[in-house]
Amino acid sequence: MTPGSRAVTVDIHPTPQEVTVAAAERVVAAAAAAIDASGRFAIVLSGGSTPRALYTLLATPDYGARIDWSRVHVFWSDERCLPPDNAASNYRMARETLLDAVPLRPAQVHRIHGEDAPAAAAAAYEREIDALFSDGGPSRFDLVLLGMGDDGHTASLFPGLTAVHETSRRVVGEYVARLAMWRVTLTPPAINAAAAVLFLVTGSGKAPALRQVLEGPREPDRWPAQIIAPDAGHVTWLTDLAAAALLDHK
Ligand code: 6PG
Repeated sequence: MTPGSRAVTVDIHPTPQEVTVAAAERVVAAAAAAIDASGRFAIVLSGGSTPRALYTLLATPDYGARIDWSRVHVFWSDERCLPPDNAASNYRMARETLLDAVPLRPAQVHRIHGEDAPAAAAAAYEREIDALFSDGGPSRFDLVLLGMGDDGHTASLFPGLTAVHETSRRVVGEYVARLAMWRVTLTPPAINAAAAVLFLVTGSGKAPALRQVLEGPREPDRWPAQIIAPDAGHVTWLTDLAAAALLDHK
C-alpha cells in the first residue's frame, strides 16, 4: 500500500505524545460516528507497548467522558498464548491502562483466552466475534488499532507465517518460532473487513520497516503489514517524525 492511494493516509506528527493525542481524537470520533450510525462501537485494541499511552489517555476523565462506554465492545488484534495475568498479556496491559478505569460490563470485553490451547482459543474468539456480528448491527469492526514491529509484522501476522495468507477464518493460532511462543491473531480477512484501521508507529527503530511497508515492493510474506488493505475501509498510519524519517512521500 503506498501513500496517496485512495484508502491510505499517512499522518505524521513531531513526537510520540502528539501521535497519542491524535489517535485518541480519532478513537473518540470513530466511537461517536459508529454509535450514531448503529448504536454500538466495536473497537479492536492492539498489543505491544506503543498503545499504552493511548489507552492511558482514553482512561482519563477528559477523554473517558467523550465516549459512551455503554455502547462499546472491546476486542484484541492478537494475544500471546499465556494467562491473562501474565505481564506479557495484551489483555492485562489494556486492563491496567484502560479497562479498569472505564465503565464496561464484562459482556462488552471480548478477550482472547490466551490460557487455553491456541486452536480452542481461536475458535472461541471467532464464535464471540460471530455472535456480535449477528446482533443486527454491522458485521465488521468499526476501528482496528494496529502496531507494527521493526520486522514489519502486525497483530501476530509475522513474516513467513501462514496466517498472513489466511483467506477465510477470522482468527487463527500459530506458533511463532522467532519468539518461541504461540499466538492467536485476527487474520487479514477479519482486519480488512473493518470500517477503519489505525496504525500507531513511532520511534526510529520502525523507520526502515515503515519505508518498506509503505514504499517498497509488495512482499507481504516479508512485510506482513502490507497485507492490511481494507476492502471498503480506510487505513491511517499515525507516525512520528522518527518513524517516518526514511519515507519519500511525506
Ligand atoms: C503484539 C502486538 C504487535 C505489536 C507490534 C509493535 O502482541 O506484540 O499486537 O503486533 O503491535 O509488535 O509492538 P510495539 O508497540 O511494542 O513496538
